[in-house]
Amino acid sequence: MLFPGSHLLSISQFDRGAVDRLFEVADRMRPYAHRERVTRVLDGAILGSMFFEPSTRTRISFGSAFNLLGGEVRETTGFESTAIAKGESLFDTARVLSGYSDVIAMRHPAEGSVAEFAQGSRVPVINGGDGANEHPTQALLDLYTIRSELADRGRTLDTLRVAMVGDLRYGRTVHSLSRLLQLFKGVKVNLVSPPELKMPREIVEELASGGHQVLETDSLEVGIADVDIVYSTRIQEERFASRAEADLYRGRFRLNQVIYTAHCEPNTVIMHPLPRDSREGAQELDVDLNDNPNLAIFRQSDNGVLVRMALFALILDVAEQIDDHSRRVNWYTERRF
Ligand code: CP
Repeated sequence: MLFPGSHLLSISQFDRGAVDRLFEVADRMRPYAHRERVTRVLDGAILGSMFFEPSTRTRISFGSAFNLLGGEVRETTGFESTAIAKGESLFDTARVLSGYSDVIAMRHPAEGSVAEFAQGSRVPVINGGDGANEHPTQALLDLYTIRSELADRGRTLDTLRVAMVGDLRYGRTVHSLSRLLQLFKGVKVNLVSPPELKMPREIVEELASGGHQVLETDSLEVGIADVDIVYSTRIQEERFASRAEADLYRGRFRLNQVIYTAHCEPNTVIMHPLPRDSREGAQELDVDLNDNPNLAIFRQSDNGVLVRMALFALILDVAEQIDDHSRRVNWYTERRF
C-alpha cells in the first residue's frame, strides 16, 4: 500500500488514484507554502535528510516542506561527513538513522541504493534520486506542473503531447516521468536525443505497449513541432566517464526564443527539472526565454514544495489534520508566488 507508513522508492508504486489523492492534498498546501498560514501538524517530527550527491531543489524543498508542516530537519550532505566513509554499510546506516528520524529523504549516486537503504530502515524512506535510475518526487512535481499548465490552456493529461529533449539515457527525471505518464490515455511522447543518449529501451517499450505514441528523433525541430510541453534536460555530466565525453553532447539541443518561435506551437509550455547548465557551450535553455510567459521552470520548482508537503502529510498520515493545527502568519509577506 502506498502512503501511510510506506517507502517511496519508484514511481511505479503510483496508480491514478494515488496521483489524484496526492495532488488533491498538494492543492490544499498552497496557503502554507505561500506563507499565508502556518501549521504545526508535524510538531516534534524529524526528517532525516541524506544527500550524497549535489542538490539544490530536492534537498532544500524537502527540508522546507517538512519545516512548513511544523517538523524539524537533520541533514547530512556528502559521504565524507558520515561513517560510510569509514566503511559502514547502507543497511547499518539506515538502522541507526531511522532511530533518530520519523521519515528519511535520501539521494545517492548508485542505482538501487535507496531501496537497499530502505531495507534497513525502521521508518519510511523517500527516494530523492538514485543514480541514473529514478527521481520519483521530481516526476510527481513535473506532472503536477503539467496538469496545472494544461488546465490554464483548457487541456487535460489524457492525450498529452510532450517532447523530452537531451540526455534521455542518464536523465533519471525523464525515466520516472515516462513511467508516470503511462497512467494516462493516448499520450504522445517525442524523444529527442543524440543516438548515444536515447531513452532506455525498456521504457520506450513500456510506453509503446501501453498504446502511447512514441517518436524517437535526433532533430530538435522535428521533436518540438507539435507538442504541448517541451521538457528539456541537462547532459548528466556526472554519469559520464569524463568531462570530455560529456562535452561531445553538451549544447547539442539548445532551445532559445528564435527556435521556439519558429518551431513550437503558440503557448507550448517549456519545462526543465533544473539545474539548467548556463555555462558557455551548454545553455540547453537560453536565458532569452526568461521573459517568455510559457517558461514554467520556476513555477515547476515552486511546486516541489507543495508536492513534497503532500507526500509527507500522506506518508505520516496527517493530511486531514493540517488545518486543525494552523493559523494565519504573524508577519507581513509580500506576495512572491
Ligand atoms: N531537479 C533536481 O533534482 O534538482 P537538484 O539536483 O538541485 O535537487
